[in-house]
Amino acid sequence: MSQDYKVQIHDHAKSIKYSLKVPDDYYILHSAEQQGHELPFSCRNGACTTCAVKILYGDIYQPEAMGLSPELKDKGYALLCVSYACSDLEVEIQEEDKVYELQFGKFFAKGNVKLGLTLGED
Ligand code: FES
Repeated sequence: MSQDYKVQIHDHAKSIKYSLKVPDDYYILHSAEQQGHELPFSCRNGACTTCAVKILYGDIYQPEAMGLSPELKDKGYALLCVSYACSDLEVEIQEEDKVYELQFGKFFAKGNVKLGLTLGED
C-alpha cells in the first residue's frame, strides 16, 4: 500500500510555492502535473537536468537519475521526473542550466574561442 507525503516545491522564477500530496510510488513531477501544476521538464527520463531541484529537507529516492553525478546527488540535488518522495519534502527548483553548468561546466573552456584557420595557402 502506498503512502502519501507532503511535498512543497518553491519556484522562485514564478514566485510560487506549490504544496501537494505525492504518493511514494509516483514520480513527483508526474504527480504534480496530475494535480495541475506546471513544472519545468524536458526529457522526462532523468537525463537532461531541466527538472532539477535542490532538496531543502526530506529524502528522495532517484535510482534512474543518470543525469546527475553522485557528487551532485550527495550535495542534495534531485531530478523530479524520476524521483520518489521517501518523506515529507521541501525542494527548490533550480535556474535553468545551473545544474548542467555545475556538472559539466568544468569540461568546457571558458572565455573566447580562438580559431586558427588558414585559408588559401598553396
Ligand atoms: S526532465 Fe530531463 S532530467 Fe528530468
